[in-house]
Amino acid sequence: MKILVTGGAGFIGSHLVDSLIKNDHQILVIDDLSFGKKEYINPKADFIQLDIRDKQVEKVWADFAPEAVYHLAAQKNVRTSLENPRLDADINILGALNVLQASIKAKAKKFIFVSSCGIYGDAKILPTDELSLEKPLSPYILNKLVFERYLKIIAEGKINWSATRLANVYGPRQDPYGEAGVISIFLSNAIANKPVYIFGDGLQTRDFIYVADVVDALLGLLDKGKEIYNVGTGQETSILDLLNKIKQISAQDIKIENKEAIVGEVRRSALDSSKIKNEINWQSKFSLAKGLEFTYKWFHSQSGRLVGDEEGK
Ligand SMILES: NC(=O)c1ccc[n+]([C@@H]2O[C@H](COP(=O)([O-])OP(=O)(O)OC[C@H]3O[C@@H](n4cnc5c(N)ncnc54)[C@H](O)[C@@H]3O)[C@@H](O)[C@H]2O)c1
Repeated sequence: MKILVTGGAGFIGSHLVDSLIKNDHQILVIDDLSFGKKEYINPKADFIQLDIRDKQVEKVWADFAPEAVYHLAAQKNVRTSLENPRLDADINILGALNVLQASIKAKAKKFIFVSSCGIYGDAKILPTDELSLEKPLSPYILNKLVFERYLKIIAEGKINWSATRLANVYGPRQDPYGEAGVISIFLSNAIANKPVYIFGDGLQTRDFIYVADVVDALLGLLDKGKEIYNVGTGQETSILDLLNKIKQISAQDIKIENKEAIVGEVRRSALDSSKIKNEINWQSKFSLAKGLEFTYKWFHSQSGRLVGDEEGK
């Protein structure tokens, strides 16, 4: 199948492209390389360096004529979205609409959008299912929700679509800079023998999902599934628990620096993914221990190149 992947040079997108190529699909990656890396793009994929907001998008889509489009390109920094909400909306709403409209015009049959579990904010019920109240706490998350709504209104009847509300994804190639995933920051700092920051008491929890599991869910939605799905493990892990696991795997005594709790930070998070399990028979396969082991090995192989600076969320 001819498949276009936006954000295919990034962390999740590059793993997705690798799997699509393994399944013999013909891939075109669109990425402006603002965060992604050219070296992560599978050499068997075609690549065009392009901003999703560019006028060229329509022509590129028309020329390639994708049968399916995965839309992962995004401004994903929560702090940037708070400081510069117009920029976030420009990329995550107007850019995404540019991609969606070009996909409809090019007569693609499926559109898959990568959304976020942040939509539930501080959920009352854990694990949280798709019917739970939506409480976005940042423009970045608000725009994920808004674009899901655009899909419901604009895509309906024109293109099949699915959106995945991902839990906290981790794995090889995740960058450890700025507000990146806490696991990539902890691992790279542990390897570089740098301290890690814990904000608040460290008892805040997250649902950590290994990137290969996410890719599996995205692949499953290519020709199945409809609308919105949670993709998580359902397991809550506290930041302190996570740190202990990383200490064991790295056999290192990681230094901790305590910082003030972040105001407005989600306290607990875990996703109920029964819907995607029931509808397309997906479920996570990697335990946190296994996923951390693979991720640690990758960060170790990169040591000297990647050093994180913050705890992240
Ligand atoms: N990592 C997570 O835990 C997580 C959780 C929920 C949702 N998501 C979503 O998954 C998607 C992929 O995230 P990721 O963690 O792989 O991040 P990433 O930054 O590694 O990947 C995003 C890619 O988009 C590209 N990009 C950014 N702005 C662009 C633009 N204007 N035009 C073209 N390309 C652009 C970047 O260069 C990068 O390669 C994003 O939509 C993100 O919001 C990620």
